Order: sequence, then structure tokens, then C-alpha cells
Amino acid sequence: MCGIIGIVSKKSFSVKNDLLKGLKKLEYRGYDSCGFATKEGAVEKSVGEIQLLIDSVKDSTTTLGIGHSRWATHGGVTKANAHPHFNKDKTLFAVHNGIIENYQELKQMLEKNGYGFMSETDSEVIPHYFDYYIKKGLGIKDIMIKFMAEVKGTFAILLFRKEDGRVYAMKRDSPLVLGVCDDCFVLASDIYAFSDKTNKALFFDDNEFAIISSDYHFYNGNGKEIKKKIQNFEWSREEETKKNFEHFMLKEVHEQPAASRRLIESLKLMQKDALKSFAEAIKKSKRIFFLACGTSYHASLIGVYLLRKLGIEAHTVIASEFENFLAVDKDTLVVAISQSGETMDVVSVLKDIKKTGAKIISIVNVPYSTIQRLSDFSIEVLAGQEICVAATKSFTNQIVVMLAIAKELGFLINLDEIPGKIKKALEDNEEKVRKLALGLKDKKDIFVLGRGISYPIAREIALKLKEISYVHAEGMMGGELKHGTIALIEKGTPVISLIPNHNEDMISNTKEVEARGARTIIVSDTNGDLIVPKSHDAEFSIYACMIGHLLSYYIAKENKLPIDKPRNLAKSVTVK
Ligand code: M6R
Repeated sequence: MCGIIGIVSKKSFSVKNDLLKGLKKLEYRGYDSCGFATKEGAVEKSVGEIQLLIDSVKDSTTTLGIGHSRWATHGGVTKANAHPHFNKDKTLFAVHNGIIENYQELKQMLEKNGYGFMSETDSEVIPHYFDYYIKKGLGIKDIMIKFMAEVKGTFAILLFRKEDGRVYAMKRDSPLVLGVCDDCFVLASDIYAFSDKTNKALFFDDNEFAIISSDYHFYNGNGKEIKKKIQNFEWSREEETKKNFEHFMLKEVHEQPAASRRLIESLKLMQKDALKSFAEAIKKSKRIFFLACGTSYHASLIGVYLLRKLGIEAHTVIASEFENFLAVDKDTLVVAISQSGETMDVVSVLKDIKKTGAKIISIVNVPYSTIQRLSDFSIEVLAGQEICVAATKSFTNQIVVMLAIAKELGFLINLDEIPGKIKKALEDNEEKVRKLALGLKDKKDIFVLGRGISYPIAREIALKLKEISYVHAEGMMGGELKHGTIALIEKGTPVISLIPNHNEDMISNTKEVEARGARTIIVSDTNGDLIVPKSHDAEFSIYACMIGHLLSYYIAKENKLPIDKPRNLAKSVTVK
């Protein structure tokens, strides 16, 4: 996780308006602490959100600066552990996203040579390592080659020397991109940081490093210069503001009708061929495995249910456990689903899978992301930038892709009706859910029950209640409850039942918990507390999920929680 940024400019730029504003766009990657350093050797750090740093520092101008927004891994959330880290003389400054696995070994070597450490981080070895070898007489390019060979782990690093005018950038596994603007270069964890300045970018591949000043030079790990192609990307900027909404989460929930319409249109035109190729790949492959984490895993579960309805056997495994369950070969189709396209658990499995010759298709929201670039081809869910840590509109669009691929393979569904029905589900239920949240805001546990295609939604709603509302929630198969968990049901325990098409088994499961005193909340397209538009149970999953989005939002709002940036989380999980 962590967001890093570096700007090298021909003209002076404002630290607050350019460097820190750019860094703020990466804040969704981690928001425990932040900091920056400039060419002149000024360095500032603070714990908490970037806005606090912006408010506390006096603005200055410079022609080179780096910044960092941290999601803590090694070492607590303290000012000392915030980046940039620097050497004793404050002449070398570095920001790092990733984990230096052999940092203890490097630290011991440096300590033996008289280096003192001020933080508990793995990253602090970087400036000291460079300092040590500079003092031994090595040039920076040679030290970069040595560093890339010696260091184990993952990194996107930006480093500079005071008054030198160059940024030294290195990448392995953690994302890094160079934005090419009219009068400056911006190095960043992703394109969001500079999408208001340019649509031209160069993406670092693994084990590459670069030296950026008034121009740029890229090298492979052995120091051989490589030529890279500038890519033009498209990104809509209107997504970056909250408009009239109090939180990005609510804005993003309400963007779902428009976002799903955009995707459905694109699947008929721009992405038509990709969808067809996806269907062909499914037909040709001997085995089909989905690969995803968190919310995207729930979308993959829906994919599995839909394919099985069509008689196609498919499996899904949470990426971090993939190697313990599944073997792949050249006849396997692997479908990676990821909003960010950067989730390390998925990336690292894909890298291994690539060696087997298996076909990789990705379903991503962020274009040019690592997962997209690792795949044979990709379908973009076109949800637009999602800033709240909780995946909402991107999840809905992932389900739409699942439905579209099922339709391509013969499943009967009218996708065009979905955006309007999402709008209706929101309009009909938002006020009711807001009132419901008042009664649920102090509950310690909430159970969510679903069957078939609604089961992944039960899990997804539970995940949202945990991450946004900090309520312990369990999403369960309705039929599984009686095998143990029902022991937890007592008078007043809230149980949300997802009941599409008057599903008799779900009705029985709901009665079973009611008989034990549970306070049930029925989400249904026939009779219930919250009614969503009548539809096939595959579509019901989308509308029922809206209820979960709204409920977790309003419980969190009632409890005055940091909805867009919940504690301990980050939007893009780029560590294992
Ligand atoms: O970017 P990805 O879809 O790969 O992210 C996977 C999970 O980290 C993500 O879905 C997470 O569970 C969300 N915060 C859920 O709202």
C-alpha cells in the first residue's frame, strides 16, 4: 500500500498546491501518516491525514520534491516512522512503497559501519545504504544496480540527493509510473496523482530503474538503458470531487445507475470483441479458476454460480490461498478480478501462473494497472475512480460483467433494465434504510443470510458492515445457519434475510431465526421490509447489495465514523 509521488520540474512549483495536492490523490492507498522532502533539503512529516500536513506547513516553492502517504507495515504509526527517510547529514531522502524483506541483514551491516537508525521501518535502510556506498566512492547508478541485486522484497522507491536535481526511481512488484507533463515529470504510484496534468505516462516494469531530471532514462536491473513507449491514457476527472454528497461513499453508491449504464453500453460496442473472446476462452478451456480478494472475490463467487447454472464448471479461490488449493496448466483459464488492478495477493499469483502458459483474463476498474498488464486481455468495468475505501460501484459493475458473460454463453437476461432498477432500488429504500440504521447503530453483531446467487451478497453486505460501520457481521448460507451459528441468535439479534422470488427455503431459514427471537429484516422483491425491483435472482443480487451499501453507510454516519477512510484499511492492498 502507501502512495508515493515525486515531481521534477523545469519551473518552480508550489509544495502545497502541486506536491501535496498530488499526494492527496494517492491518500486512498494509505493514510496513517505522510511527509515530503524538497530539493533544498526541507523535510516535513506528520501523523494522520495529508490535510493536516497541508494546514500545518508554510507553502514554499521548489523544482524537485518527493512525498509519501503511509499504510503502516513495519513500525507503528508515528512521526519517526513516517517517510521520507534520510541519512544523518540530511543529504539523501527516500520514499518507499513495499517491504524490504532482508532489511534486518542490511541494517546490521550498516549499524556495524556506524549508521544509526531513527525509525522502526524497513525503509530507513534505503538512504543509509546509498550514503554508505556513495562514501565508498560508487556512483549512484552503480549503487542502484547493486541495490536491485542485493535487496529482497518489493519496492517502488524515489530517492534524491540534496541540490542534485535528479530523482532516482526503482521498481519491483510495487506500482510506479512516470507522468510526462508539459513542463515537469511526475513519478507516482498510479496515474490518479497526475491525471489532471497529463494523459501521457510511462509504466515501470519490474526490476527497472530510472533517472529523471530534465529528461528521463530507464534501465534494466543490470544497468542497460532501455527505450520505453509513452502510453496515452483516458481518465474522467469529474469523479474526483464529492459533488453535493457528504462522503465519497454515498456519491459512489448513487453513481451506480450511470456507471452500470456506461459499462453495459461499452460491452455492446467498445468491449464487444473482448466479451466475445472471454466467452470463447471459457468454452475452450479445460479448467476455469477465478482469482480475487475481498469484495472482488464476492463478484467471482457470483461468476461461479452463473457459470454453473449454464453447466460450466468453475472455481474461485481467494488469491492469498490460491497456491494451497489449485494447480494450473496451459489449458487453464484464470480470471482475475480486481478493482485496483494492483492487489499484491492477486499480482503475485498471476506472476507464477504466467509461467505455466495458462490464459489470463482480467476484469479491472483501473486501466493500465499491473493486473491488466499481466493478462492476455482485459475487460474494464468502467466504474470511474472509486475514492472511498469500500468498493461499491466497482462491485456492481463487476457483477454486470459476470451477467454479461453469462448472457454471451446463453443465460437469459436483459442487461438494459439494470441501471433503471438500481436507481429505483436506491430511491425506494434510502429513507427506510436510514431509519433502520438508527435502530441498528448500537448492535454488536448482525447476521446476513442468503442462498444461491444471494449468498455472495450476504457475505458482501457483512464485509461492508465490518469495514465501514465497524459492526461484527457474518454473511452466511441460509441453510448452514442451523449447523452451529444459530446458537448465537437470541432475542433482538438482527438478521438480514435476502429472499428473491419468494424462495421457500430462505423463508424457512428466516422463520427458524424468528422462532428464536431474532429481529429479522427481509430484503425481497415480493414481500418484506425492504423491497427491490422484481427480477431474476441473479439481478436481485445487485439490488439487494444496494441495501447493504446504504445500511453500512448510515450506521457509520450515525456513529460518526470516518466513512471514506475507515481505520486500518487502504484502498489498494499492495502487500502480501
Ligand atoms: O482492488 P481489489 O478489488 O483487488 O481489492 C480487493 C479488496 O482489497 C477489496 O475488495 C476490499 O475488500 C474492499 N475494501 C472492500 O470494500
